[in-house]
Amino acid sequence: LTTHVTSTLQETEPMGRYEEYADIDWNNLGYGLIKTDYIYKAKCTLNNTFEQGQVCDYGNIELSPGAGVLNYGQGIFEGTKAFRGEDGRILLFRPDQNAIRMQIGAERMCMQSPSVQQFVDAVKQTAIANKRWIPPPGKGSLYIRPLLIGTGPTLGVSPAPEYTFLVYASPVGNYFKAGTGPLNLYVNNEFHRATRGGAGCVKSITNYAPVLKAITGAKEQGFSDVVFLDSVHKKYIEEASCSNIFLVKGNVISTPATVGTILEGITRKSIIDIARDLGYKVEERLIALDELMEADEVFTTGTAVSVATVGSVTFNAQRIEYKTAGELVSQKLYKTLVGIQVGKIKNKYDWAVEI
Ligand code: COI
Repeated sequence: LTTHVTSTLQETEPMGRYEEYADIDWNNLGYGLIKTDYIYKAKCTLNNTFEQGQVCDYGNIELSPGAGVLNYGQGIFEGTKAFRGEDGRILLFRPDQNAIRMQIGAERMCMQSPSVQQFVDAVKQTAIANKRWIPPPGKGSLYIRPLLIGTGPTLGVSPAPEYTFLVYASPVGNYFKAGTGPLNLYVNNEFHRATRGGAGCVKSITNYAPVLKAITGAKEQGFSDVVFLDSVHKKYIEEASCSNIFLVKGNVISTPATVGTILEGITRKSIIDIARDLGYKVEERLIALDELMEADEVFTTGTAVSVATVGSVTFNAQRIEYKTAGELVSQKLYKTLVGIQVGKIKNKYDWAVEI
């Protein structure tokens, strides 16, 4: 990796880096990568601990053509967000949970991982260094992407001899082009996202390219995203391409149990706790597609999508529409989650971490 270490800001830095806000159109943030000022980097060799990382100038990285990540997909990532509260505070949402999930993923993929403390410090340093890219209140958030990759060369199929931990960030608005409007989901039973014993439960980079064909096909037909079914019975719902799925029937909220094929979403588990605290019964279990089609309301959750209301689900030629107006459970949960994230609602778990 090329490192241009920037431990302190130099007097020769462009003045922009000292401004309160970067000069971009904050009213039209989408979900594309916007280059920010700094990236965090740390390295370690196999069976060792990570060196102290550094915040460096943002830029491309250089890799061996034999890097484990390039050849054998040895890489995992996380997603977390920094929010600017109306009172000016900068808040992270449960970064320790991302750290723990990265450790679990690293163990599954035979990689070294940073300690929880190093991970959380790296996320904080990246957010603070890129503070001018954190959107004004109500305009979005700074999406923070911790990335752990096998950078050492390995020609045979074996764990890479060296790992790099990177944290970069980009200001983001709504994940879907349609904004916060209800999603139209397409149930794909041709391609499967994960299978028992695979790596569907961790945030391996290898879980994403295989679903592009399904997503692209669905988008070409005007759908927002895809719902995947289990690969064994081809009958139980699992998750959407980058979010967990929930259904509401009466006062009961249900979501597929995480049985090794479903990502253990941090928003998923936060929403389960929030819903229970609001008095809903929440069930984690096997959910057949038929049951999804009979729900009153459907929504998906994830760091990127937050809580997204689903307007319809299509399977074969059958399209089912759900409630999207009036008092929605998904909107109540969304408002509570965002309220906690931006520091408007104080929650008993102290999920919002001020930096
Ligand atoms: C996230 O919600 O952080 C994700 O991982 C989604 C991302 C793949 C767009």
